[in-house]
Amino acid sequence: MIAVGINGYGTIGKRVADAVREQPDMRVRGVAKTSPNHEAELAVENGLPLYGAVEDRLDLFEEAGIELAGTVDVLVADSDVVVDATPSGIGAQNRELYEEHDTPALFQGGEDAEVADVSFNARSNYGEAVDADYVRVVSCNTTGLSRLVAPLRKEYGVEKVRATLVRRGGDPAQSGRGPINDILPDPVTLPSHHGPDVKTVFPDLDIDTLGLKVPATLMHMHSVNVTLSTGATAPEVRDLLAGEDRIHVIPEDTGIDGAGALKEYALDRGRPRGDLWENCLWGESVTTEDGPGGTDLYLFQAIHQESDVVPENVDAIRAVTGAADREESMATTDENMGMGL
Ligand SMILES: NC(=O)c1ccc[n+]([C@@H]2O[C@H](COP(=O)([O-])OP(=O)(O)OC[C@H]3O[C@@H](n4cnc5c(N)ncnc54)[C@H](OP(=O)(O)O)[C@@H]3O)[C@@H](O)[C@H]2O)c1
Repeated sequence: MIAVGINGYGTIGKRVADAVREQPDMRVRGVAKTSPNHEAELAVENGLPLYGAVEDRLDLFEEAGIELAGTVDVLVADSDVVVDATPSGIGAQNRELYEEHDTPALFQGGEDAEVADVSFNARSNYGEAVDADYVRVVSCNTTGLSRLVAPLRKEYGVEKVRATLVRRGGDPAQSGRGPINDILPDPVTLPSHHGPDVKTVFPDLDIDTLGLKVPATLMHMHSVNVTLSTGATAPEVRDLLAGEDRIHVIPEDTGIDGAGALKEYALDRGRPRGDLWENCLWGESVTTEDGPGGTDLYLFQAIHQESDVVPENVDAIRAVTGAADREESMATTDENMGMGL
């Protein structure tokens, strides 16, 4: 059993903890937090040993009547691997702690790529993370684009990707984020950071991205144009993508017209927290140019920012511990999480 410590039990950390608990070959050694809030209570209710992440805040837990199992350094020392799911920038500061205890660590997409030896997406470059000490699981948007690009590159070759990312202003619980009533080019300069980030997974990929931010919390939406190296028809591309376990091609007759209906669909089907771990891609939107060749591909996909990186973290745990190869890990993760809509 791989003992997994989770440093940061918020949006990503609590989902990763739940996914790890579903796996047959790993267990949550404990989780660390700085505040005795409702998520600290949730960890305790879930029977997870809770550790204090910051020395001078330990007494806050005592005052709140929440018992700690110790401090985060004990958790790191006792874990085979740590998933750092702290807010952007804190992960880089924590690296020293993981080095001190010689514990491999996964960082999240809010960190700069330099924080780790490898930027990781299971479908795209699992092998590069095998036995690595420090791995960054790329952001929700980069994960969504990498999952799409990987099969297209293998099947047809990719000359160029152009993607416009319509991004949610914040997660549902992030009351301080916005915009509330605006549509922001974000960043207004081109390209957005997403294209360069995808290149941390595919260094030789030609990709440009543009970003916007809108008053929504549910999901991101990608409008994607890919110039393929060899031509394909729309049904061929649709079938290829439908064969990917972490891409859900939304059938035409479901009446799912946007992110709201997708979230409702997930909730109706009992997905924990209404999570959508898969890229959700509209089958009808898959279009290739009509002329000879059919190398210009267009499509829309929605990305659930809070959860698509969760199965990737589970696979990265197996990669850094050398516990399984890509096919075995992805199949085990998917089966035990219940991937597939
Ligand atoms: N949310 C998303 O949509 C999303 C998607 C993909 C990737 N990511 C990336 O995932 C990472 C985590 O993001 P998140 O959205 O999960 O953030 P979050 O919801 O704010 O959760 C962060 C957690 O870390 C805890 N924390 C804060 N400072 C800490 C410290 N010094 N040591 C240990 N724990 C600490 C916070 O709890 P306390 O109350 O205890 O401080 C909270 O439990 C970021 O790199 C982010 O960019 C986020």
